[in-house]
Amino acid sequence: MKTILVTGASRGIGRETAKWLLEAGHRVIALARSEDKLQQLKNQWPETADILAGDLCETQTYEALSSMLESADLSLDGIIHNAGALLNKPFGETTDADWQYLLDANLMSAVRLVQSCSGRLSPGSHVVFIGSMGGFQGSSKFPGLAAYSVSKGALSILTECLAAELAAGKICVNCLCLGAVQTEMLDAAFPGFKAPVEAHQMGAYIGHFASEAHQFFNGRVLPVSLADPT
Ligand SMILES: NC(=O)c1ccc[n+]([C@@H]2O[C@H](COP(=O)([O-])OP(=O)(O)OC[C@H]3O[C@@H](n4cnc5c(N)ncnc54)[C@H](OP(=O)(O)O)[C@@H]3O)[C@@H](O)[C@H]2O)c1
Repeated sequence: MKTILVTGASRGIGRETAKWLLEAGHRVIALARSEDKLQQLKNQWPETADILAGDLCETQTYEALSSMLESADLSLDGIIHNAGALLNKPFGETTDADWQYLLDANLMSAVRLVQSCSGRLSPGSHVVFIGSMGGFQGSSKFPGLAAYSVSKGALSILTECLAAELAAGKICVNCLCLGAVQTEMLDAAFPGFKAPVEAHQMGAYIGHFASEAHQFFNGRVLPVSLADPT
């Protein structure tokens, strides 16, 4: 049994990833802002699901996470940092606040998360960042997604940097750049678009990847997409 922190576990891909891990017998710390939705995981897996309601754009969330790990003396075998925000807005209309929010939610959250958990990551653990094809170098780009794609592109480079930085502690770091997956985020950004992959399929893939793939990959930014650009 591994203990894995999954962010953005209240809905979409993150919730399906958490469910896959719990069904596989792992312990999951599920983090998101919507406590009521996290509670559903706790109700279904009372022994192995721990929940933490918090906003990854707020420092007190990281303090709460650190004290939760410390008070339960929990070590992590993995982090799946899946929480993220998307903005579909023409570049010329984007504001400083838009850019700051996307960079905070998608990039700085990863920085703060690894910093606050690094002392609790066991040797042999695996950090997985959920990126996007929009942030994969050389992929086709969409109008309206500049702030989102830049924030995910920076997450890709952070992956490579952290893999080097954490190698001495035998911690692997990889980034999965997803193509379109049918979720609320996709519906809100691209109403009517039908993705070729459902959230439960991607959740199973990510859960398995986080549990096993660091035997084969480290510091990799991997496209997970049936087609580019989607
Ligand atoms: N769906 C796609 O087509 C697609 C494609 C490429 C990449 N991705 C990436 O895959 C990841 C999951 O996407 P999704 O489609 O499942 O999105 P989603 O349905 O919008 O779910 C996002 C999750 O992140 C949480 N979250 C967002 N902001 C947060 C914050 N500030 N603090 C804590 N939790 C936060 C949300 O929970 P609360 O609202 O409860 O906090 C929710 O659980 C994202 O990183 C996204 O960029 C998705």
